[in-house]
Amino acid sequence: MVFMNTTECIKTRYSIREYSDAAVSEGLVKEILQAAVCAPSAGNAQDWEFIVVRKQEIKKQLAEAALGQGFIADAPVLVVVCSNLKKIGSAYGERGVSLYSIQDTAAAAMCLMLAAWEKGLGTCWVGAFDEGRVKEILVLPMDVRPLAIITLGYPRAGIEKPKSRDLSGVLHWEHYGGAE
Ligand SMILES: Cc1cc2nc3c(=O)[nH]c(=O)nc-3n(C[C@H](O)[C@H](O)[C@H](O)COP(=O)(O)O)c2cc1C
Repeated sequence: MVFMNTTECIKTRYSIREYSDAAVSEGLVKEILQAAVCAPSAGNAQDWEFIVVRKQEIKKQLAEAALGQGFIADAPVLVVVCSNLKKIGSAYGERGVSLYSIQDTAAAAMCLMLAAWEKGLGTCWVGAFDEGRVKEILVLPMDVRPLAIITLGYPRAGIEKPKSRDLSGVLHWEHYGGAE
């Protein structure tokens, strides 16, 4: 196993949309999700819930709900990251429901993706999907909102990392537009 430090993990990760046939064990999925639940959350509400999908028929339905993005059904595992809106709403009201739920689950999704990468697995964050349809497919309770579908699988060789924007184009010092 190749170990990498956190910065190396962050800098080398990129989205994987083609997977090898190698199976991803249940133990490994749990290890990766164990990293997701270590993410920060508003008031430590930990409002996330994860639906792990391995059955081909359900993956296919989710791919259709995700505007027909076919690679989703090819991933060995999908993790649908949800927020329990009742939980975050009871702590923070409207701001919890409309903002913290998204921020908390985004942090969890990112931890999941980095933990997967460190273990040699690739992921792709999928945000384009019909939420109502995903809720139906996964039989989610009314207050559980699906916010991201994360694909998970061993990468196939030959895919390249896209270039990140140059830091100087997005960095402001002290105020918007401020120079160093
Ligand atoms: C909020 C969000 C939604 C995304 N939705 C999709 C999606 O629906 N389909 C897809 O193929 N990739 C999706 N992506 C992945 C991005 O396309 C990808 O992260 C971006 O192009 C940068 O590439 P990288 O992840 O390889 O660095 C999404 C990423 C984020 C953060």
